[in-house]
Amino acid sequence: MNVSDRLEERLADDHLAVLRSISRHATPLGIDVYLVGGSVRDALLDESPHDVDVMVSADTERLVESIVRQGNAAVLKTTKFGTWSLTVEDIALDLSTARRETYERPGALPTVFPGTVDDDLARRDFSINAMAISLREDSWGDLLDPHGGADDLERGLVRALHDGSFVDDATRILRAIRYACRRDFRLETRTGELLELALPYFNTISPDRVRHEFERIFNEPRAAKIVELAGRLGVLSAVHPALKADPVSLRAIGATPGSDAPRAKLLLGSIVQSIKGEDVASVVERLNLNAEWASIVRDVAEVRRRSKGLMSEDIAKSGVYRLLQGLSGSAIESCLNAETDPKVSHMLRLYLDELRHVRTSLDGNDLMTMGVPQGPAIGQMLEKLLDAKLDGLVNSAEDERGLARQLCQGECRG
Ligand code: CTP
Repeated sequence: MNVSDRLEERLADDHLAVLRSISRHATPLGIDVYLVGGSVRDALLDESPHDVDVMVSADTERLVESIVRQGNAAVLKTTKFGTWSLTVEDIALDLSTARRETYERPGALPTVFPGTVDDDLARRDFSINAMAISLREDSWGDLLDPHGGADDLERGLVRALHDGSFVDDATRILRAIRYACRRDFRLETRTGELLELALPYFNTISPDRVRHEFERIFNEPRAAKIVELAGRLGVLSAVHPALKADPVSLRAIGATPGSDAPRAKLLLGSIVQSIKGEDVASVVERLNLNAEWASIVRDVAEVRRRSKGLMSEDIAKSGVYRLLQGLSGSAIESCLNAETDPKVSHMLRLYLDELRHVRTSLDGNDLMTMGVPQGPAIGQMLEKLLDAKLDGLVNSAEDERGLARQLCQGECRG
């Protein structure tokens, strides 16, 4: 099958021009070049590929030298696996030498050997990612599809290439559900069974690699759907037993008007809604979260713990403020998304929309001018003024001055 029409339609003109130029360099060197992987899948799906991956049959270094010699091209990075990241005419692309891979043990990074184009397609995760389009001048646009990827694309199937695929690399479990939800594809039956059997192999994957897959999921337009499926298939609890999909908050994400929390943080917050304080450290460690992301996990646990206080009958606004003060707004918003108790929801919303923005009119300097001694007394008095303002007991700078004077029991000056 020749799909040159898809290439012309799907690729931007400048990308096509660069691919044609690479092809012209490859011909005299007797090298075959192919568009490969996700770029082929996207082009066949009538989507514009977001990155351009080129597979080179052999001698990538000579090809790269030839391209760079012509000018307007630079090598950004090379790896010992024969991968070259280039910019050509300001277009970024990756050139990789065709390779074969073996996994010494589950979860290990693969050992890489030079291989044929067929080897390179066979080492990949799913049939829909294991196709190539020839960029050679005399066969431009010919589709190489030894694993039936085009059929699977048409039928909407995510199909692993071999039985050991998820065991070799359990990150493919998260990749499978990401691709399935992206376009309402189904996991092919055997693939679904293999995925389930491979869940214990998440233990072989490093925290950084697992987190990276979550980051990719959180960046997908249908992230909430992917997380929901990950929960349903037991994938989240295989990563860490404290992780669960929370359907209520997943539904709310994206539908929250005026949300100012980044969606990725709300998604992270949604999977830790059932977490207990004692699990926080091990979840943070399992995903090697940085301080900002770790605070979401920690603060969700904290909001959950403090929510009981929010239910008390006679809690004042200042009480709500003091319970939630200092916790991450994104964590609170994700708890609000998950909350089913109307009173707690109301309090969380009140805090996010109103209370956390309230400031006293007076500041420490004003209090010192009034004669309050420098030191902890200033902070304590400012807290009291803020509580009074939150509870509607003072409404102006003058009210605050009056309260400050009362609080310092006549020791203040003006
Ligand atoms: N791949 C794989 N196993 C992995 C990761 C990647 O076999 N664990 C292969 C797939 O063939 C994939 C290619 O490497 O198509 C490139 O991987 P990546 O850049 O992660 O994905 P894309 O296919 O470009 O697709 P997307 O970014 O849309 O997920």
